[in-house]
Amino acid sequence: MNDLFTPYTLKGLEMKNRIVMPPMCQYSVEAKDGIATDFHYQHYVSRAIGGAGFIIIEMTDVEADGRISDYDLGLWSDDQIPAIKRIVDACHQYGAKVGIQIAHAGRKAEDAEVPVAPSAIAFDENYKQPRALSTEEVKEMVEKFRKAVQRAIKAGVDAIEIHGAHGYLIHQFHSPLTNKRDDEYGQDLTKFGREVLRAAKEEMPADMPLMMRISAKEYVEDGYDIEESIEFAKKYQEAGVDIFDISSGGEGPIGAGGRPGTHAGYQVPLAREIKKALNVPVIAVGRLDEPTLANAVIGNEEADLIAVGRGMLRNPYWALEASKKLNKETEIPKQYVDGFRR
Ligand SMILES: Cc1cc2nc3c(=O)[nH]c(=O)nc-3n(C[C@H](O)[C@H](O)[C@H](O)COP(=O)(O)O)c2cc1C
Repeated sequence: MNDLFTPYTLKGLEMKNRIVMPPMCQYSVEAKDGIATDFHYQHYVSRAIGGAGFIIIEMTDVEADGRISDYDLGLWSDDQIPAIKRIVDACHQYGAKVGIQIAHAGRKAEDAEVPVAPSAIAFDENYKQPRALSTEEVKEMVEKFRKAVQRAIKAGVDAIEIHGAHGYLIHQFHSPLTNKRDDEYGQDLTKFGREVLRAAKEEMPADMPLMMRISAKEYVEDGYDIEESIEFAKKYQEAGVDIFDISSGGEGPIGAGGRPGTHAGYQVPLAREIKKALNVPVIAVGRLDEPTLANAVIGNEEADLIAVGRGMLRNPYWALEASKKLNKETEIPKQYVDGFRR
């Protein structure tokens, strides 16, 4: 029987436990240059010291106008590699493995003068009107993802997560409500996402896992639900995804069907459905801060890994405290042993 502290191996990636820090934008780049700062270093390395097995660095964008805000991380230039490498190396030193979420915000790029999107449809009346990418520009965008992945690999990451969730560019392409194109990328809604995944895969060592975050359910009026997301996830799996990170929403104004749950484990059923339908490993996320609940998700085989976001913003030592609460063995940094064992 597996529990939160059972090691997990996926291809060449060996994690000491099942606890993931999910990607969380910190909007903390100081010079608007996409380069990680000392804050980012402290932020990620403290979670590595705090016992997380796998840390996914926040949404990191493939071009300057692909950021949600000008304070987001980027990997559109080689100048951005060393600061990420410094974080990755230090996290490794403290026993955590590191992934990075590669992304483009599309129509949700708030500081871009004119955001780009599959179709010229604004998120809502408060957002800027985007312009539709030309077919040629879509192909160029795939290459921008490829280059960002190359740079992430130079920075020493252990895995790549492609951001296909929360209403950002890849999600905008596979959602029928935001993709009204009549070219090849509109006739086949997953074509752009699949090309990005294949480009990433081509750049990655064969034993490095490719992850993808998806929104398995939309909350807009007439949005897609789990049946549709199982179908598009199958196509992404065929394109090379090794593990899905299952989230939901973010695509537009909330419809009458209801908003995302705020109860514990609200997205676990979505993760379980994708895992079962595709026979693929999944990460479950969303209000799993209570260690006994997170442990049950692993024990009941609803997910292979669990991620704790806001819980780790509050407490960098979430994983160490979970080991104490669940009475499970884990390595405590020698400087902190008194805090956990006495
Ligand atoms: C401050 C903040 C920033 C976030 N930024 C990202 C992000 O960059 N990429 C992403 O996929 N999700 C992002 N999320 C969503 C989290 O990764 C996570 O899925 C969500 O917070 C639900 O998990 P939780 O209940 O454990 O916090 C963010 C969440 C928060 C609170």
